[in-house]
Amino acid sequence: MDVAHAIADRRSSVDALMGLAAADMAAADTLIRARLDSPIALIPALAEHLIGAGGKRVRPLVTVAAARLVNGKGDGYLKLAAAVEFIHTATLLHDDVVDGSELRRGKVAAHLIWGGASSVLVGDFLFARAFELMVESGSLHALDILARASRVIAEGEVLQLTRAHDLNLNVDTYLEIVAAKTAELFAAAAEAGAVVCGASAKRSAALRDYGMSLGLAFQLTDDALDYGGTSEVLGKNAGDDFREGKATLPLILAIQRTGSAETAFWEKVIGRRDQDENDFRRARELILSSGALQATQNQAQAYAEKAKAALGIFPADDWRLALEALADFAVSRPA
Ligand code: IPE
Ligand code: IPE
Ligand code: MG
Ligand code: MG
Repeated sequence: MDVAHAIADRRSSVDALMGLAAADMAAADTLIRARLDSPIALIPALAEHLIGAGGKRVRPLVTVAAARLVNGKGDGYLKLAAAVEFIHTATLLHDDVVDGSELRRGKVAAHLIWGGASSVLVGDFLFARAFELMVESGSLHALDILARASRVIAEGEVLQLTRAHDLNLNVDTYLEIVAAKTAELFAAAAEAGAVVCGASAKRSAALRDYGMSLGLAFQLTDDALDYGGTSEVLGKNAGDDFREGKATLPLILAIQRTGSAETAFWEKVIGRRDQDENDFRRARELILSSGALQATQNQAQAYAEKAKAALGIFPADDWRLALEALADFAVSRPA
């Protein structure tokens, strides 16, 4: 199969997944819309700006599909799907303040319209809404999983902050950051969806493993897209990681591969964050020509395969195939 067909094939699988989950996702979305409301007018205005702009809704889809895979009934998993998206949205509001990002979901970042303080506080509101929904799900176990994930995400973001501009960041520490700031929520989204439906420990653990590998694949792809994608398609500015001096896998590998010839360049643009407009272009060229971008994509692909393998204990029904398609989508997505 050629690349175009492979992509078309993945697309149709993801379309099939969206069709399969459409009713559940619509119900989760209704819940999200209802719960972003508040009598304090700034809250729905700011939240609607971000939530109304869309987003892929990948994490609630993971919760729904995990719940359905274990024959989920009732509406507990829908409450958790909404909670998971609220946690994600809260972290985006906080993250754009921390990263100084200007574009999110194709729109001006909320902190540039309402200010950083408003963004952080509305992010707190969304976190609190998530916790209300988790309690309503009636599962203390699911609440434990998602509360833990919320804490781990914060740890990942703080760890990353303390390692900014660090040219010597190694791959293990990078993966530790990615596991915490991104993959943990994917893992929790899958595990909690199973747990709230009363799945066995073995099945819940398998779904957690799936989510963890999926999350790693997803963030590695995101880090590749920051150099390989365009702002128009991404809906956020390409090159943000570089401008922040963030050592992501494409950069770490390029630094290793370009050796002493480029040490002064990396030291200037990342170590001292002394950059002019040509520097991003040059960094991108080095990342491409050294094979660092391809190596990052290959690593993401390996995690996607690991995610799919974790589903091996389940019968190959539509929901398992859907989760497998989602793993392929995570690494082939254009944005
Ligand atoms: C963005 O996540 C943050 C990362 C973990 C890379 P998404 O790419 O899922 O963002 P939306 O929700 O679709 O906007
Ligand atoms: C993603 O952070 C993880 C969280 C928001 C917790 P990034 O900073 O890597 O993602 P983008 O590029 O802003 O979406
Ligand atoms: Mg960011
Ligand atoms: Mg960030």
